[in-house]
Amino acid sequence: MATARQIKALLESYAEGDESRFLTVAMQVAAHEARAGHGQLALELKELVDKARLRSSQPVRPIEVEQVVQLHKPQGELASLLQLSYPKTRLSDMVLAPALRNQVERVLIEQHQQGKLRERGLAPRHKLLLVGPPGSGKTMTANALAGELGLALFTIKLDGVITRFLGETSAKLRLVFEALARTRGVYLFDEFDAIGGQRAATNDIGEARRILNSFLQFMDEDASESLIIAATNHAELLDRALFRRFDDVIEYDLPSRKMIEKTMRARLASFPTGGVNWSLVNRAADGLSYADVSRACEEAAKEFVLTDSTEVSTEMLVGALHARGASKPASDGKLKDGRKAKRAAQAPASGRRGRS
Ligand SMILES: Nc1ncnc2c1ncn2[C@@H]1O[C@H](COP(=O)(O)OP(=O)(O)OP(=O)(O)O)[C@@H](O)[C@H]1O
Ligand SMILES: [Mg+2]
Repeated sequence: MATARQIKALLESYAEGDESRFLTVAMQVAAHEARAGHGQLALELKELVDKARLRSSQPVRPIEVEQVVQLHKPQGELASLLQLSYPKTRLSDMVLAPALRNQVERVLIEQHQQGKLRERGLAPRHKLLLVGPPGSGKTMTANALAGELGLALFTIKLDGVITRFLGETSAKLRLVFEALARTRGVYLFDEFDAIGGQRAATNDIGEARRILNSFLQFMDEDASESLIIAATNHAELLDRALFRRFDDVIEYDLPSRKMIEKTMRARLASFPTGGVNWSLVNRAADGLSYADVSRACEEAAKEFVLTDSTEVSTEMLVGALHARGASKPASDGKLKDGRKAKRAAQAPASGRRGRS
């Protein structure tokens, strides 16, 4: 947020009709936000100033907002380790079971009010382990947290971090942890089992142990204001020592029929679905993930458009859902029957929720 001093300067320049100063101060506010990790807000402010500048043709004193915004962009070796994005996803875009939504909202509340907590020597929740089957919303949650907090999302590029060379992975992990201490953001270790698995990343057990120990050490030392999110659908592969390093272990599920319907209705909100027999459709979606259900809606919507139909029909939806289900490999029984996949992925994590 702009400081009172900046607001005062804005008002003064406005009262004096000093447009150039007004815009310069506005740019300073943008730079301030960029430094605080609010890259998206900084960019929006900068765009507004650019627009105002075009209209007024007033020159503005050059201030290095571009440069400050660019600060977020990983440079040098970090560029091969981190991928930057500014998600616009909101929590309201997600369909979540009430208990799960509460857990995620709790993180947001503590992040939004972190000043209040820190004043009393408390740290907001900021290290999260998300576990659950494919397509259940883990990556989407990381996006939604970044979107809600107006922070940049840095996704750790596993192929950049994990190398074949002894000791190098730990060194790269250190770079990532240094970056997240320097620049506030949401840092996502997706497919985390590659790092946190008992036999992670390499065939060399000794090296896997070293990587894991480095990660544990960096987590213990972390005093950053960033959110560190690890996501996996193989919780059973994770080393037990990891779980207590996270403030929360959040477990994701495949959608219930009610959630399936909610997801589909939201996805198809801009299409006519008045005649859809939802109980038939929900049954056809049994065992599928949120991702499958979303994709099936897209397919059905395309069919509706391309066939110039008057409405999205039950048949279109059931057909698309069956296609999603049938396209899953069934060899291990894991993907065809998503609920089995869920149980396999989540059983080891149960009972280890939260701090220990
Ligand atoms: N809870 C949800 N509510 C609404 N849509 C969802 C939800 N979960 C997933 N989706 C849809 O599915 C897509 C894929 O989800 P996401 O990438 O978050 O899954 P994931 O859990 O990270 O899967 P994986 O383990 O394969 O990485 C999302 O982009 C979104 O369209
Ligand atoms: Mg994911």
